[in-house]
Amino acid sequence: MNYRMIDFPVHGDNRGKLVALEGGVDLPFEIKRMYYMFDTLPNESRGFHAHTKLEQVIIAMDGACRFVLDDGEKRETVLLNRPDVGLYIGPGMWREMHDFSYGCKLVVLASEHYDEKEYIRNYDEFLKAIGKDGRSE
Ligand code: TYD
Repeated sequence: MNYRMIDFPVHGDNRGKLVALEGGVDLPFEIKRMYYMFDTLPNESRGFHAHTKLEQVIIAMDGACRFVLDDGEKRETVLLNRPDVGLYIGPGMWREMHDFSYGCKLVVLASEHYDEKEYIRNYDEFLKAIGKDGRSE
C-alpha cells in the first residue's frame, strides 16, 4: 500500500501550537500546489479517483473524515482527525473520502500542478493502469 501517516513536529508553548512543513524536508516531495476543502457534508463522499504520478499529503485541519485507500488488491480505512498528522498518498492508490464531519477542513499539499488528464476516475481503468485487472501479464 503506497500510503502512510506522517507525524508532524509540533512547536508548542503556552501560546498554543504551530506546525511548519517544508517540501522535501517534512514531506517527501516539493510542494507545487495546495488546495483545501471546507463546507463539507457528512452524507457527501468525495474522491473516487487515483493518480499515476501525483503525491499528496492530506491534513484534517479541523474536524474529521474517513479515507478509503485501495491498491487494487486491498482496501484499508484511515481516520483523519488531527492537525498534526498527515496522510501521505503516493501514486497508484485509489482513494475515497467518506463520513466528513460538518465543516471539516481538509488541506492537501501536492507534488504537481492540477492536471485533469492525470486523474483516473473509473475503478476498472485504475485496475488496468496498475496492471491488476487480471488481464495483464
Ligand atoms: P474533484 O476532483 O471532483 O474533487 P474530489 O477529488 O475531492 O472529489 O474536484 C472538484 C473540482 O475542483 C473539479 O471541478 C476540479 C477542480 N479542481 C481544480 O480546479 N484544481 C485542483 O487542484 C483540484 C484538486 C480540483
